[in-house]
Amino acid sequence: MNIAVIGSGGREHAIVWKLNQSELAEKVYVIPGNGGTKKNVPIGVNDFDGIKNFCESEKIKLIIVGPEDPLVGGIVDYFSDTSIKVFGPDKKAAQLEGSKIFAKNFMKKYGVATGDFEQFNNINSAMKFIEKVKGNCVIKYDGLAAGKGVYVCSSIREAEEALLDLKQKYGEEVQLLIEEKLIGSELSILAFTDGENYQILLPSQDHKQLLDGDKGPNTGGMGAFCPVPFYTDEIKNRIEKETIIQTIKGIKEESFNYKGVIYLGLMITKSGPKVLEYNVRLGDPETEVVLPAFKGDLLELVLSCFDGSLKDFQMEFNDGYFVDVVLTSEGYPKAYKKGIEISGLKKVSDETLVFHAGTKKTNGKIITNGGRVLNIVVNQKTLGKAIDKVYNECELIKFEGKYYRGDIGTRNS
Ligand code: AMP
Ligand code: GLY
Repeated sequence: MNIAVIGSGGREHAIVWKLNQSELAEKVYVIPGNGGTKKNVPIGVNDFDGIKNFCESEKIKLIIVGPEDPLVGGIVDYFSDTSIKVFGPDKKAAQLEGSKIFAKNFMKKYGVATGDFEQFNNINSAMKFIEKVKGNCVIKYDGLAAGKGVYVCSSIREAEEALLDLKQKYGEEVQLLIEEKLIGSELSILAFTDGENYQILLPSQDHKQLLDGDKGPNTGGMGAFCPVPFYTDEIKNRIEKETIIQTIKGIKEESFNYKGVIYLGLMITKSGPKVLEYNVRLGDPETEVVLPAFKGDLLELVLSCFDGSLKDFQMEFNDGYFVDVVLTSEGYPKAYKKGIEISGLKKVSDETLVFHAGTKKTNGKIITNGGRVLNIVVNQKTLGKAIDKVYNECELIKFEGKYYRGDIGTRNS
């Protein structure tokens, strides 16, 4: 079977790497791909006509969508009258990620455990509310904001600043949410679903902030690891009973066309797991650890979401721990230089995985082409060994301005 993967990040490189291990996979194209992927096709991820023409000419039978944008834009609906399968939710279901208000109302309707929230449609009414909660809250822009629409506040001043920032970006009449601030440990759960059943991958943790100790500005993700030591059977059961089962029930009852991945961003609080957010796709950088940890055939798993066999799919996982450290360009997540040559890629050991993100191949050289440049992924028997090894490998790869966090996987909770 010929397949097209949409996207250009580390997540998409990991998906292509895993698909290529399947005996069922013939040609695996990436639209548009990066310096680490082969069979790159220079078409934009939101150019549905272009993607369709390409897929028809190359006899592609399956499209796997990496990023949220084309899903929220309706790529699944666009292909619904063709014979090409698109792995992902339809436009309506993609609102679970595209609109935080839609997602919260869905959680409320189906009894998914989550924090309290209030909905506002202008800055003025939100300003009044933050006084009531003494600024101790989380303020969120309703729409897609590439991780930049969430403000975790601890004082009235911080909350006011957040609202003024939102006003500057979107105007006075803006749809937003103010949520209860939850305290606990964060966990990412990625479940494959056919709209009725589900199978979950190993639990993982993302590291969103730029600096060690979870300080500094939020980024697209500085690293991840799996499995997570505090994910006991008791927590696993509570997550399933209190969040996943209700979510899948809601997807079914709303009659969403959803053959894809539902990602639950969870906070494990003293009173149990609560959903912070949904994503309607594989997470990045979580994918770079959870796919190497998955022992089975990814293409078979994806196809089982279309042919009714997901329910009986036997999920198997590789032993040990997987740690991913993201090498970034100096200056990221603000302005950074591009076009810097990368060396040492061949120096890392054979078992180490290097998933490219912001890279480009020119004249046989790999150069930087984004803020998050490379994902270095290591698997070892213990978490400690995986951390030691991944940092040794990170030293071997060199480019001017290389920066990475030094504490991926070392959180105590
Ligand atoms: P989101 O994009 O909704 O996942 O939010 C980004 C990050 O903000 C999350 O990973 C959390 O670290 C934090 N966050 C979001 N919502 C809350 C909340 N209700 N309480 C505490 N932290 C939150
Ligand atoms: N790791 C969070 C995301 O993919 O949005």
